[in-house]
Amino acid sequence: MTLIMKIVQRRAAYSRFTMAIGLGLTLMLSACTQPQTDTGRWYTKAQAETGKTLFEANCGVCHGRRAQGLAEDWKKPDASGHYPPPPLNGTAHAWHHPMETLLATIENGGAPVGGVMPAFGDKFSQEQKLALIAYFQSLWPDDIYQQWREIDDRN
Ligand code: HEC
Repeated sequence: MTLIMKIVQRRAAYSRFTMAIGLGLTLMLSACTQPQTDTGRWYTKAQAETGKTLFEANCGVCHGRRAQGLAEDWKKPDASGHYPPPPLNGTAHAWHHPMETLLATIENGGAPVGGVMPAFGDKFSQEQKLALIAYFQSLWPDDIYQQWREIDDRN
């Protein structure tokens, strides 16, 4: 075998090796970022179930037990200029907000944005707040959920 051929063969073996490593890394990384849950979303069925109970007991009175909203028009402020509690079932605006903002709303209520929703920061643990979000997101159709994911990924 000539020296040149040896070099060429070694190069080919080396590039196969780096490609294999690259592929392995890509697979490992995508395994980490893809949701590995029984819903195909970031939360599990169990989280959404826990959230349902919490939601019905604490949020339903304003947002409706199925998060469907109780006001005739959630875009219309009342006489004092406040907006009614919007639906959270994917038909209104909540899916425009990344996870961080949804958590902050539950934590601090509406006061920081001049709203009237009460703060729940002391009432729920972080897991419970996530479960609440899991519940109302479980009512979102896939296309709305995907749009939210893109917004959340950009954040
Ligand atoms: C006393 C009524 C009331 C209760 C109880 C309440 N909310 Fe709200 N919520 C509101 C109002 C009103 C708004 C609109 C913003 C504002 O005025 O603060 C709102 C807004 C929100 C938003 C933002 C929606 C958007 O489209 O931007 C989220 C998320 C939310 N509420 C979740 C919850 C969760 C979860 C609970 C239960 C833990 C809850 N709310 C309990 C009245 C309420």
